[in-house]
Amino acid sequence: MNAKQAAAHKAVQYIKDGMIVGLGTGSTAYWAIQYLGERVKQGMQITAVATSDQTERLALQCGIKISDMDAVDHIDIDIDGADEIDHRLNLIKGGGGALLREKIVAAGSKTFIVIADESKMVKILGQFPLPVEIIPFGWQHTSRRLALLGCQTAMRQKEAGPFKTDNGNYILDCRFGSISDPAVLQQQINSIPGVVENGLFVKMASAVVVGYSDGTVKEFS
Ligand code: A5P
Repeated sequence: MNAKQAAAHKAVQYIKDGMIVGLGTGSTAYWAIQYLGERVKQGMQITAVATSDQTERLALQCGIKISDMDAVDHIDIDIDGADEIDHRLNLIKGGGGALLREKIVAAGSKTFIVIADESKMVKILGQFPLPVEIIPFGWQHTSRRLALLGCQTAMRQKEAGPFKTDNGNYILDCRFGSISDPAVLQQQINSIPGVVENGLFVKMASAVVVGYSDGTVKEFS
């Protein structure tokens, strides 16, 4: 079992029969969905909500039925990956472009468990370019306003054109280098017209399960 698998395997043990479960997006969440699928095949009854179209397709392949977010009034437990995690359990997410739905699902969850390999743990957030989801209309204006906050922005590309999120928006990857106050920065970013949401998840994680290359895990909360 590699580091991502170990973290995912541990986190899935927190899922109990009858729970409403948020399913994250990315290569670590992939393993959580696989392990949950095994338990569902063994008879576990859960309701699941997906954080992306990609995760919905994967869950269905694993035998997990997906409910609409609005068909549930809360989520018991959400399990998702992260791109960076600091010692206060603040996160950068959105490397896969699913940050908006990931944040809506995490915010609606009683317990939000982050799973990651050890490479994601950092002293200070910001080496990983912060993904910001923006409306296509006037995106260059939005980009210039974001740059005034002290970052270099880059439009995320896919094949021949801009990457489009599941919500039909663009992603600007914002290179800050180091983010000293994530709580302030997330408010500054979200107050710019054209910004839909940013990938800073501040004080949202209930716990982080970190996997190591020898297959061991450590939990932080
Ligand atoms: C998806 O948009 C992201 O937030 C992912 O959760 C994050 O990028 C972690 O992905 P990996 O588990 O693939 O590193």
